[in-house]
Amino acid sequence: QCNPPACEPSDWIEQKASPKIKEGMKAFNLSNDTLRKNMDLFLDNIQRGLKKDTHPTSIVKCFPTYVQDLPKGTEKGKFLALDLGGTNFRVLMIELDIGKCDMKSDVYAIPNELMVGTGTELFDHIAQCLADFVEKQGLQGEVLPLGFTFSFPLVQRGLRSGILVRWSKGFNIPEVVDGDVVQWLTEALERRGDVQIDVCAVLNDTTGTLMSCAWKNPECRVGLIVGTGHNGCYLETQANAEMFDEPDMGSGRVIINLEAAAFGDDGCLDFLRTDIDKKVDNDSINPGKQVYEKTISGMYLGELLRLYTLRFVEQGLMFGGKFADVFRKAEVMQTAMISNIESDPIGKYTNTTEILKSIGVTGASDQDMLNLRYICQAISTRSAHLVAATTCVLVKKVGEPKIVIGIDGTVYKLHPNFRRLMKEKMMELIGPGFEFDLMLSEDGSGRGAALVAAMAAMRK
Ligand code: GLC
Repeated sequence: QCNPPACEPSDWIEQKASPKIKEGMKAFNLSNDTLRKNMDLFLDNIQRGLKKDTHPTSIVKCFPTYVQDLPKGTEKGKFLALDLGGTNFRVLMIELDIGKCDMKSDVYAIPNELMVGTGTELFDHIAQCLADFVEKQGLQGEVLPLGFTFSFPLVQRGLRSGILVRWSKGFNIPEVVDGDVVQWLTEALERRGDVQIDVCAVLNDTTGTLMSCAWKNPECRVGLIVGTGHNGCYLETQANAEMFDEPDMGSGRVIINLEAAAFGDDGCLDFLRTDIDKKVDNDSINPGKQVYEKTISGMYLGELLRLYTLRFVEQGLMFGGKFADVFRKAEVMQTAMISNIESDPIGKYTNTTEILKSIGVTGASDQDMLNLRYICQAISTRSAHLVAATTCVLVKKVGEPKIVIGIDGTVYKLHPNFRRLMKEKMMELIGPGFEFDLMLSEDGSGRGAALVAAMAAMRK
């Protein structure tokens, strides 16, 4: 036994948590063997996604992005960017000038009904926000190039074309699926007729992250998001990217958007999913889809926390068996709560008490709160370890001895230990001959969109 100051906070919580709670969360403690199995499967999925003959039936799609090179730092100009598909919808204006980047942005809401309404309603709303922003910034009359960060699976036919494969993360507008989202946006802008915007690139948020980090550090080769959703991209040689059909512009490389969230949609990860993972999946608006993401990302970790807590309350193991009705309410707990609970100093429960009060749970004992923290820790650690495992695969796939990995997303940024957990596990799993650094991407979705738009403009 050790006291808080003498050992890792997580070890101390592990020691003090009730044995039955630990038993109930055991499946979240993934051994390195399990993680290595996950790595082998992921690599196999990537190979199948890249190859022409296996691509049609592959689960991890490995879509070529048509971004053939990383920024050089010489990009210049004024650009607009749209960022749709994470926690916030944002409109940005970005001015690039040799190594400098000036940015103005506004956050706009996407009302819940628009996330599941019609395509026209959604894109008219986006165009309206864009027009508001242009007016506010006094940019009327200028024809500005726009980079559109659209963080959903897209089949690209070029930099300015993206066919939506499916929605995720709470969006579901069937009529847009199989349509070109650049066209949807352009038509909405034309319907208004009051803004002059040239949508010159569409990209995924992972690509934006990779581009914005590479702009600062030329060793960056991988972009990751651990936010509302989870996904990754990396720089691949064109010879391996068999689905890429554009002439080589000289780099011989292309960024691959893995759409890693779908890993496991064929059941290959069922050996590590729990009954509650399956319940979260079944109760979501896209059952059976984005299975990997549902064990990792912000849209789902809060639900895992709620459902495990409910289970333990029903078993009489927490809160004296009371408050089950609180935890029966879908989405009463959010992922931000996990970060906040784990941010309490060891042995103190200020955030935890506040959070419990906010959902109507009072009179919790210290042991209850410690147990709750243990559940949070189990959920966030499993998420970080899974991301670590699949990121090791990408580092090895890139094959260079030292690379930088750009990362963005609320879970990565706001959780107090995610980075450390991920890095430590990567060091255990990576094997000899590979070095890596994790680099936080600041505003990757916006800056990356401007960089891709700038590179497209320079190509013209
Ligand atoms: C979802 C989307 C993917 C995006 C990720 C992170 O997995 O399908 O395109 O990159 O979320 O936002």
